[in-house]
Amino acid sequence: MTEHPDGYAFFHRVVGIDLGSSSCAVSVWDGAKLLMVRGPTGAATMPASVGQDRAGQVVAGVPPADDAETVIADIKRRLGTGEQIRFRGRTYQPREVCAFLMIELKRQAEVFVGEPIHDAVVTVATAAGEAQRRALREAAGLAQLNVRRLVEDPVAAAMALGADARPGTYAIFDLGGGTFDASVVRVGDGTVDVLGTAGDQRLGGDDFDELIVAYALRQIRERHHVDLSRDPAIRRRIRWEAEIRKRELSAADNTTLELPVLTATVSASVPLSRRAFEAMIEPDVQRTLDLLTEAIAAARAAHGVGWGDIDQVVLAGGSTRIPAIRDRLAGYFGWGAARIRTDLDPDEMVARGAGLVARDYEAASLFEGSPVGLLSASLRLRAELAVPEALPPPEEPPEAPGPPGPPAETPADFRRVAEATYMLLLQDGDLGALEVAYGSFISAVQAAAPDARLAELGAALEEEYQRASP
Ligand SMILES: Nc1ncnc2c1ncn2[C@@H]1O[C@H](COP(=O)(O)OP(=O)(O)OP(=O)(O)O)[C@@H](O)[C@H]1O
Ligand SMILES: [Mg+2]
Repeated sequence: MTEHPDGYAFFHRVVGIDLGSSSCAVSVWDGAKLLMVRGPTGAATMPASVGQDRAGQVVAGVPPADDAETVIADIKRRLGTGEQIRFRGRTYQPREVCAFLMIELKRQAEVFVGEPIHDAVVTVATAAGEAQRRALREAAGLAQLNVRRLVEDPVAAAMALGADARPGTYAIFDLGGGTFDASVVRVGDGTVDVLGTAGDQRLGGDDFDELIVAYALRQIRERHHVDLSRDPAIRRRIRWEAEIRKRELSAADNTTLELPVLTATVSASVPLSRRAFEAMIEPDVQRTLDLLTEAIAAARAAHGVGWGDIDQVVLAGGSTRIPAIRDRLAGYFGWGAARIRTDLDPDEMVARGAGLVARDYEAASLFEGSPVGLLSASLRLRAELAVPEALPPPEEPPEAPGPPGPPAETPADFRRVAEATYMLLLQDGDLGALEVAYGSFISAVQAAAPDARLAELGAALEEEYQRASP
């Protein structure tokens, strides 16, 4: 990490956002390398779902629980459609639901960076039309983010190859939750050109989950002589279990869907082998390869670049973890597995690329868009959001408790010094006055002391830190 003589890190304050149909992620450049912003659970990606908590407040980034009726997933594909979404007894537009996710992503980035964030580079599907792009920009506006650029997913994925991307021609194979994109790109010296694309905005891991659900329902019907396929709550439960077991099958040969007490009389265990799963998804896998062929044909027609010119395949999207897909791709090109890039995390590729593109833009000191009504709409959405919960305390206190870390509510002005102090105290707990100043400041933050008091204690902390730091 690039460090200021005082020990502070410099973050580039334009972030990269990947807003997917099933998950979202944010990345930021810390001056020396690109970091994925990790949310309160420590994960680098956040479910692209919006729901409500027990108090009826909106929560963004929640996993779509198996029994929740009010969780909205897959908002990305509905952007720009004019669809109305019923939620919490109100009607929302897709861009408003999307804004809830953006507000949460922005908040997590701010906690991570320790400063307000006003700017983002946001990724968009190649196939997205004008209306979808506009809605995405509007959603960002509702989250008070200046969109510095919309960058297409395959361009972002190619950018993520970073410095290691030797100039050449790459096929980007992006199979996520809801969409599939195949693209042929040419990487030059720091440039990426899309030569040909093809895709399906309705093909991805969600479809595989549905295939497993249908299979499980058939098994249950045969064994228990009941047809549960028309009960939406049961379907949701099975889909939830199916998604978990599907991921298991990327590492194991066999798994079992455990579905206790589906009804008062039916509990089911449905075994599923990797082989059976592969057979189920085969038509979809074939379709991805057909679309890849289309993308290559488009690149040939427009740029004379064909199948034999492709140097490497880059995998993006969580569903490319399925081993059968990797095997089929290697077979398609007649290659060994080595030319299929599996060294990069497919869930993070697109967000990483966006973060790298973001470095080209200057951060603004505030949100620039202010069409009439936008601010009030934005404030209204924010008021509907639940206040983020503090993390639950660890079950058992550690043996020798160290100082507490700076809480999430630490004012941005003092976050850096609080963090730097915390790091220093972790290394060397015997720093007397600094420890006292830090303790008073943290207690005041935890007690939500008035701003003036926080400023006073923060300044005192800053002073002690200057004195104590090496
Ligand atoms: N280990 C795994 N094996 C199989 N599938 C997986 C695995 N890990 C994640 N997935 C699937 O990947 C999908 C999510 O991928 P990703 O997060 O890339 O999608 P997304 O970017 O949100 O969607 P999209 O790009 O389609 O808008 C889900 O369907 C998930 O079940
Ligand atoms: Mg994606």
